[in-house]
Amino acid sequence: MKHTAIYPGSFDPLTNGHLDILERAVQMFEKVIVTVAVNNQKKSVFTGEERVELIRQAIDEKEWQNRVEIEQFTGLLIDYARKKKVNILLRGVRQISDFEYEFRMALTNRRLAPEIDTVFLMPGEQLTFISATIVKEVAAWGGDLKSFVPGHVAKALRKKFGH
Ligand code: PNS
Repeated sequence: MKHTAIYPGSFDPLTNGHLDILERAVQMFEKVIVTVAVNNQKKSVFTGEERVELIRQAIDEKEWQNRVEIEQFTGLLIDYARKKKVNILLRGVRQISDFEYEFRMALTNRRLAPEIDTVFLMPGEQLTFISATIVKEVAAWGGDLKSFVPGHVAKALRKKFGH
């Protein structure tokens, strides 16, 4: 039995879709490590620390919060997973268009580390169109973020984009 899984992503920022996946993940695994990928080549709105903090606040009142660890990492995901001695990666798949990229990434990771498997979870269907990219676009133009991200994330986005 596998007790721990890694849920990696950019989380720039955490959305209600990510949170939905995390809620599902903690039903399946005793421990979930949410891994915030920090890639200096990739432009992000929030720093690694800020992204970690937004996730931390989002799970602050969940009864399962003690079973979730949140960490930043830079480098190859499989190296991080091996260091943690975890061989399950979790990814959310919203629609078919996500699948191609996810499939490529999962098989690349498997080629690099055959002992590591990727498990795909689907968010609730009302959340399938939400992405951090779309959320940032709405935030940049001062749109209403309430149904896309938790309140504290909306506040942080408004501050970043000066609304
Ligand atoms: O939320 P995202 O941006 O879709 O997450 C992508 C992420 C961070 C999981 C992916 O880019 C990643 O694993 N990056 C670390 C570098 C790595 O291991 N790349 C090889 C996988 S193809």
